[in-house]
Amino acid sequence: MVIQNYELVSEWGAIYKDGDKAYKTYPAHTPYDYVMEKARTHSLIYDTGLPVPAVYSVKKIKDEIIALEMDYIKGEPLLYEGMNVIEREKSLNIMAKLQCRVNAVDASHFGLPQFSNCMVDEIQRTPYLTERIKNKVLELLYRLDTGKTNLCHGDLHPFNILFDGKKHWIIDWDDASTGDPAADACMTYFYEKRFAANTAEIYLNAYCRNSNVKKEELFAWLPVIAAYQVNIETKEERDFILSIINEWIIQF
Ligand SMILES: Nc1ncnc2c1ncn2[C@@H]1O[C@H](COP(=O)(O)OP(=O)(O)O)[C@@H](O)[C@H]1O
Ligand SMILES: [Mg+2]
Repeated sequence: MVIQNYELVSEWGAIYKDGDKAYKTYPAHTPYDYVMEKARTHSLIYDTGLPVPAVYSVKKIKDEIIALEMDYIKGEPLLYEGMNVIEREKSLNIMAKLQCRVNAVDASHFGLPQFSNCMVDEIQRTPYLTERIKNKVLELLYRLDTGKTNLCHGDLHPFNILFDGKKHWIIDWDDASTGDPAADACMTYFYEKRFAANTAEIYLNAYCRNSNVKKEELFAWLPVIAAYQVNIETKEERDFILSIINEWIIQF
């Protein structure tokens, strides 16, 4: 008999554990096909040899919640409170190198959405930007987008990297897409900038050292990435994001 004893391991994203498997759950009424598509993407990425938990199935768990079944990684996030400066720098270097490995994958045949299209949709639907600003940001986006098809994680940050004591694992592939490595790295840079400005610069230097992306290329995406993130729920974070966009608009 299979023992099913789902234990909530993260309220953030509602991840359950049962034995050696993790179950990522999706909000009620999420279509089954949507989660199947996430499973398909996840297993294609697993097949590239990147350090990604293996995916097994899409099934209903506890009270009919739809979930993606994968290996449970017994590990800690890449960055945690109390790390010293050297440990922190080492971890940020690891994140930059992992990001380079992700971006080195040619994902043209994966059937993923294009990162730039995801950004256009999000920017067009936001109520937080005026039409004038949207047009300027979209103009920049179309100029920067050269149709690259590199694998982009779309949300790589220290909490989406788990360290099990030996190996670093990249999780949370729901926003995976194809696009420009500079845009994907800019997402990570921007995430760090919002929460820990000093780590953002360390990450940026490490990423540019390990890739052929120049700092200027990464910075060029910043207004677009900021606009893409502006639909965030908390007002404080949104105000910070808007300040970055407004700063850029003044110089434009
Ligand atoms: N395969 C896994 N093994 C162990 N823990 C996991 C796994 N997947 C997710 N988690 C934990 O759950 C958290 C949220 O999962 P994640 O996929 O990142 O969801 P979200 O989209 O909400 O960020 C992660 O930060 C991690 O702590
Ligand atoms: Mg996550």
